[in-house]
Amino acid sequence: MNILVTGGTGYIGSHTIVELIANGHEVSVVDNLANSSVGVISRIKKITGKEPKLYTFDLCDKEATSNLFKKNSFDAVIHFAGLKAVGESVQLPLTYYENNLLSTISLLNAMLDNDVDRLIFSSSATVYGSTDTTRYRETLPAGHDISNPYGRTKYMIEEMIKDIGNANDSFEATILRYFNPIGAHESGEIGENPLGLPNNLMPFITQVATGKREELLIFGNDYPTEDGTCKRDFIHVVDLARGHVAALKKSSPGTHIYNLGSGIPTSVLQLVNTFSSISGKSIKYRFTSRREGDLAEFYADPSKAELELGWKVEKSIEDMCRDTWNWQLKNPNGYDR
Ligand code: UD1
Repeated sequence: MNILVTGGTGYIGSHTIVELIANGHEVSVVDNLANSSVGVISRIKKITGKEPKLYTFDLCDKEATSNLFKKNSFDAVIHFAGLKAVGESVQLPLTYYENNLLSTISLLNAMLDNDVDRLIFSSSATVYGSTDTTRYRETLPAGHDISNPYGRTKYMIEEMIKDIGNANDSFEATILRYFNPIGAHESGEIGENPLGLPNNLMPFITQVATGKREELLIFGNDYPTEDGTCKRDFIHVVDLARGHVAALKKSSPGTHIYNLGSGIPTSVLQLVNTFSSISGKSIKYRFTSRREGDLAEFYADPSKAELELGWKVEKSIEDMCRDTWNWQLKNPNGYDR
């Protein structure tokens, strides 16, 4: 298939492109490079032997988006592009609503106008909001008590996609709700490369391991878990990427929602200790107060994706730590450009 990947130079997008190419798909990328490096493209070529075509513009530009669809014939779109820093979204809510919603509307318009009716959307387990369960199934009601504007944009886009599906019988939409992606491609050529202050746990751990940061602050050790730290469902980014290939293969009319997670909860402290033993580096950490909006524990029930998409994770927490460390050692300064 000829696939358009939006946000394809980002962390999850780039790993997904590698898996798409490995499965025989042709890939084009649209990205405004707001939070990523163009150097990702040559790394993808190094791994796969194929260079995806990159279009550098912002999807909010309706004309450019429409022209891209007029000049190409895409069979499907995988939509990753969007702003994703939780803390920043609290400070700049309008920027998040404007960017994430308008870019998606522009993309969906171009798809419908050009009869491209197959979409995979990069969503987040954050759309479940705060619930009284820890193991999340897709049947849980979503959208209540989402703790930040970033998460609400994901939920709003999900709803938008469902409405479009209801109005267009031939529209095939798959919404993938990610848990906590970490790790890197095992080649060490691509990985997570946060520009500026990281937002998530794993980049902080690696920065302490390399000495870039003196210590890790662990937000809370008084949660009702075995070691008092929060538990999350970490998923290897390559497993996650393969979930998109599986979803594409099984795409069918209607809107389908799947959790992509391992189903196994791991505590923050367990992850730190595993990373430390794999890298051979001691990770200095200090417990501090809880972070606002954090839940003690949540993890996926991934059985729907296994049953319907024939997909499940293959990689362990050890793999995630090893591949992250390998990427870090090979690329101490991230991508060259
Ligand atoms: C966060 C977002 C979620 C988003 C996801 C994207 C919140 C509340 N949720 O999930 O909306 O989709 O990232 O990847 O922000 N931690 C520390 N010290 C640190 C950093 C993190 O102790 O320096 C802890 C956190 O308190 C949490 C765990 O590590 O318990 C995981 O944090 P993080 O990587 O930010 O992911 P989530 O909060 O689960």
